[in-house]
Amino acid sequence: MRFGVHYYPIVSSARAFNALWKRSYNKAADLLGGVVYEDPWRAGGHNGLSNTEDPLNPEDPYPRVLALRQTMRGFGLHETPIIMAGGVWWLEEWQDWIDNPELGPIVFQFGTRPLLTRESPIPQAWKERLMTLKKGDVHLNRFSPTGFYSSAVNNSFLRDLQARSERQVAFSTEPLGVLTVPYGVGARKRQVFLAAEDLAHVQEWESQGFVEAMRTPDSTLIFVTPDSAREILADQADCMGCLSECRFSNWSQRAPDYSNGHKADPRSFCIQKTLQAAAHASGPDQDKVLDNTLMFGGTNAWRFAADPFYSNGFVPTVGQLVERILTGR
Ligand SMILES: Cc1cc2nc3c(=O)[nH]c(=O)nc-3n(C[C@H](O)[C@H](O)[C@H](O)COP(=O)(O)O)c2cc1C
Ligand code: SF4
Repeated sequence: MRFGVHYYPIVSSARAFNALWKRSYNKAADLLGGVVYEDPWRAGGHNGLSNTEDPLNPEDPYPRVLALRQTMRGFGLHETPIIMAGGVWWLEEWQDWIDNPELGPIVFQFGTRPLLTRESPIPQAWKERLMTLKKGDVHLNRFSPTGFYSSAVNNSFLRDLQARSERQVAFSTEPLGVLTVPYGVGARKRQVFLAAEDLAHVQEWESQGFVEAMRTPDSTLIFVTPDSAREILADQADCMGCLSECRFSNWSQRAPDYSNGHKADPRSFCIQKTLQAAAHASGPDQDKVLDNTLMFGGTNAWRFAADPFYSNGFVPTVGQLVERILTGR
């Protein structure tokens, strides 16, 4: 407030704005430059889906943005722009949003399209991958160590996380209910108890090489290969504490105990490492690096392959992209 700089908060619902306005934005109302409505089903990266919203059931953004405007009007914010972010490909498809008195001033934000421009610094292999994506190749997942849903390209990295979570059984340190079959975990074969039918799964996974059992904070074990277990432990040891509440690591920069108070969860991953890897992959094997790391993207990324603008591998400059967004053709 002291510096007079405008701020542009990101919300995904009118309800979130209402709560944040009452808690803090009202204290700096004059500096509110605009409000970003980030569509929780369509935008790339981390998304603010609430517990009541179904990740598999995208809602129409119009009534949600209208509800946001109505909430804002209740606070006197008639002319503060709303910035629509998520799933906007070109303006032709949003004509009914522009100069619409019901919605008030509207601005559009782009995340995915600018990835594929000449100026974009992402690796060449990422740009090439964008041009081959099909519908459904980018979707929401729940593996992020932040606990948020996030929208990323489905690749070997995400498939591995998915498979890790599928090779999962409940355990107890004492016999409890159906958890009655003894099983030895780790080099020291520390005894835990599994359900009889789960033991059969575990034996099958072990025969496939997934011989390392790792504990999760939910009293379950997941089964991974020794290489994977080593990588998970090394990534946790390398943690630099970039998130105060990281699911994947319990390390914290704060004394006295240097712990965030949670148990580390091997079903998640280090987002600091993976985003860096995606952004800086270089050299001849960048394809492989990208397939094995986190590639954020919006769910409409499949449109690169469908849009004739990009035919024959054409990559526009930012200027050409903006022109195209404005005219659509
Ligand atoms: C690769 C990628 C990384 C992103 N990283 C962030 C981020 O760090 N912080 C943020 O607020 N939004 C981030 N976003 C979201 C965008 O700012 C934007 O709101 C959204 O992608 C717009 O939707 P679109 O991708 O359909 O155009 C990211 C999006 C992409 C595609
Ligand atoms: S460095 Fe990685 S493991 Fe550590 S807090 Fe950040 S994301 Fe989590």
